[in-house]
Amino acid sequence: MIPAESGDLLATLENAFDFAQRQVRRLIEKYPDYFPIYTVGGKWHHSGERWTNWCEGFLPGMMWIFFEETGDSFWREQAEHYSRLVEPRKDDRTVHDLGFLFYHGTYRRWYDATVREGLADPTIREVVFHAGRTLAKRFKEKGAYLRSFVADESLFIDIMMNVPVILYTAIETNDDVLMDIASRHCATSRRYLVRGDGSTAHEALFDTQTGECLRQTTHQGYRGDSCWSRGLAWALYGFATCGRLLNFRPWLETSQSCAQYLLEKLAGDPVPPWDFDAPEESRAQKDSSAGAIAAAGLFELSDAVVLVGTDQARQRRYLRDSALRILAALCEPEYLATQDADWEGILKHGVYHIHKGLGVDESVMWGEFFFVDALQRAIRHLRSAR
Ligand code: GLY
Repeated sequence: MIPAESGDLLATLENAFDFAQRQVRRLIEKYPDYFPIYTVGGKWHHSGERWTNWCEGFLPGMMWIFFEETGDSFWREQAEHYSRLVEPRKDDRTVHDLGFLFYHGTYRRWYDATVREGLADPTIREVVFHAGRTLAKRFKEKGAYLRSFVADESLFIDIMMNVPVILYTAIETNDDVLMDIASRHCATSRRYLVRGDGSTAHEALFDTQTGECLRQTTHQGYRGDSCWSRGLAWALYGFATCGRLLNFRPWLETSQSCAQYLLEKLAGDPVPPWDFDAPEESRAQKDSSAGAIAAAGLFELSDAVVLVGTDQARQRRYLRDSALRILAALCEPEYLATQDADWEGILKHGVYHIHKGLGVDESVMWGEFFFVDALQRAIRHLRSAR
């Protein structure tokens, strides 16, 4: 277990945060206005397939976090510039990722910055609301879920990370219809994608005529009945955010259950394999991005107001120490690309789509973002505990 008051760990995380800033600066200086998704041989610029366009919020998202922590006007200018480039996506009906784009990444963070400055700008927040309303249009009454980008019949666990943009809009604008859509999506995801032991399926397929759930399956995991580690991390974090926004115990319990499953699996090695149920040899392939998402998600869960169980302080400490243990491992030279001057990413050994051979054992843009998200939370926590 990581001692929460460890000064050495704080220095390690601060160094990683500085390195992340240097790598993002290098990326935008080398490839201005370019939104990469994964590296090839450690290089961001290549002509590899994207599969889907869902990562454009992560680069500005990191810039907002850098600005939040450093107050450096360079990051503020870059964050605004890159966020503006993403704004037209608020009308994008082709993807299920508007929460990644506008809640985690761009305009929600921008709006919060204006609030902190005492100049709350409603025009910035309106962009987030617009995105929330657009995403809600994916809702299928039959089955009660937001459909994935793939097909009407398809529900992805990843969508749990995007529901917060609808919930946020519902809460801030008192919109009962949006609240109902978001809540029913969470309930359907819990029912059909989260298993009794806290493991998760990547996808559920529905009969679009009757709304009946037919089976669990996967695109990026090993098998329909396996636990794709990134999907589990999305569930842990997504249910935690929805539970936190609503202060609603069932979603926090679901997140806790996913956290428990994950942490049991990570008892030996804190960095997840790409799929917990892949054959042993294949499990040697890590997905550092799943570790980064999980670390940030464990902090998110630990920050939630209602936690299940009586010993809340002990439970919070367990979640945070577990997150720190994952982060400490990701800061080792095996994962943090500090020792390889040619590598353009921050974190090595991420995986995008193993079956398509896209971004396998590479840096991936969401891994970078959630690593920075987790570092910010961990650094704040360790500084406050000093
Ligand atoms: N498409 C989301 C993910 O690869 O996790």
